[in-house]
Amino acid sequence: MPLWFIILSVLVLAFALGVKRGAPYLPILKRDSDVLIKLGGLKSGQTVIDLGSGDGRFLLAAARLGIKGIGYEINPILVAVSRLVCWRYRHLVTIHLADFWRVKLPPADVIYTFLLPKYMTELDSYLKTQIKQPTTLISFAFEIPGRKPDKHNRNTFIYHYGD
Ligand SMILES: C[S@@+](CC[C@H](N)C(=O)[O-])C[C@H]1O[C@@H](n2cnc3c(N)ncnc32)[C@H](O)[C@@H]1O
Repeated sequence: MPLWFIILSVLVLAFALGVKRGAPYLPILKRDSDVLIKLGGLKSGQTVIDLGSGDGRFLLAAARLGIKGIGYEINPILVAVSRLVCWRYRHLVTIHLADFWRVKLPPADVIYTFLLPKYMTELDSYLKTQIKQPTTLISFAFEIPGRKPDKHNRNTFIYHYGD
């Protein structure tokens, strides 16, 4: 089997994993991540979890403000890229190669996610079982069906859990 075919197959498989388990790789724009940080009330010294952390750009934007970040990413190529992207802030940012549906989430002030709409109901149930302390969810682009956001703007929805 030619090497190019093996490499291509690995790439396709790595990126297909995300689509199957939450969302394809579609990174947020810098201007949007700044708005999310503000709308979610994130401050220096707090902790944010990115469920499906992609290339790490949201965690990087948060780390630049002194916010500790924990990312879960299913695509090993993106995990490697994001660890490089966030290298300078490695004292603040940890990125795990994992399917976030299968992990026990550590305590955090804010959880950020950008998933496909078909996963939003499952996400709501998952967070209700996982979260015991007050935590803010920032959902970019999609709402939780049947649940009124506590705050929102054009493309960002804020919910509270654990209180
Ligand atoms: C729409 S992108 C968002 C990336 C990043 N959060 C951002 O805002 O720039 C969704 C990411 O979630 C990852 N992903 C999807 N399902 C996942 C799962 N179950 N566990 C971990 N990562 C997942 C995908 O590989 C992809 O990188």
